[in-house]
Amino acid sequence: MSRVLTALQPSGVLHIGNYLGAIQPFVELQTGNENFLFIVDYHAITVPQKPEELRRNILFAAATYLAAGVDPEKTVLFQQSAVAEHTELAWILNCVAHMGELERMIQYKEKARGKGESVTVGLFDYPVLMAADILLYDTDIVPVGEDQKQHVELARDLAQRFNKRFGEVFVMPKPQIRKQGARIMALDDPSAKMSKSAASEKSYLSLMDDAQTVEKKIRSAVTDATGLANLQTLCTLLTGKTVKQIETMYQGKNEPFKQDLAAAVTALLTPLQQKVNAYLQDEAALKRTLDAGAERARTIAAKKMERVRKAIGVQL
Ligand code: TYM
Repeated sequence: MSRVLTALQPSGVLHIGNYLGAIQPFVELQTGNENFLFIVDYHAITVPQKPEELRRNILFAAATYLAAGVDPEKTVLFQQSAVAEHTELAWILNCVAHMGELERMIQYKEKARGKGESVTVGLFDYPVLMAADILLYDTDIVPVGEDQKQHVELARDLAQRFNKRFGEVFVMPKPQIRKQGARIMALDDPSAKMSKSAASEKSYLSLMDDAQTVEKKIRSAVTDATGLANLQTLCTLLTGKTVKQIETMYQGKNEPFKQDLAAAVTALLTPLQQKVNAYLQDEAALKRTLDAGAERARTIAAKKMERVRKAIGVQL
């Protein structure tokens, strides 16, 4: 039995890249492992958030995970901010992490671009909080998309450095990255990864898009060599057909391919959306689920922090 852990930001839109890169692989690992999934609201505030929107997005994220098959009996499902040990451990790891290694983080460099001196300390420090998220629970496996690999590697480096200095306190986590689907590209620009922060809504398939919108977005998707490969990846993951089979079936037939792909996307999304909406009907139940998860997480996290405090010498 392994400890499996992943987390996603509550950013309002979850796209099919988030689903195929992280949510689905996590759900597949649920049986037979010890699982942790949480909503990283303290990562979300590294960029400005409207409080009422953030609150709604947290509930929406919880509803989406449950709809996608996360089972609170098998998975400790909670909000990051409800377990204070995450930020506490982040502070201690701040004192182990080097400025240089954080400056090398690709995501930081991308997000800081153009912000000059006004880039927030939180955005810079974000990977250290993520390392704390992972190391707090003695995590073995971290299913993530390709873009988070560098952050998981940083968590490994920090664990190793800490252990060398203070003794074997942390377990070494491993990123688990799918061969296919770990980097779904933008529909309108296959040289960029699919992202909710893209300028155009046409670039991503939201998990809440209706059939018409899905069809429109896929119809206008770029089909140069990389664009087509990206659509084939989506089709493979959604239908179980191999790329070879897809190529033979649709040789030179982009329109029918796009129609069938849109149908496959909608076949995934329609039942998912019905479930999301049903969960959102009962906010109190969602909150109860998250609170119960936080309580379980807190017990484990508190024990770990006691060990960390002892190791560094602050526990008298
Ligand atoms: P976030 O919220 O940006 O993304 C959530 C997950 O979705 C994956 N993903 C993709 N996969 C395939 N194709 C894409 N185009 C695509 N875009 C996003 C991401 O790789 C991620 O797995 N820092 C993290 C959240 C986090 C975390 C953690 C993850 C915080 N603490 C601890 C694992 C363990 C983030 O912002 O992901």
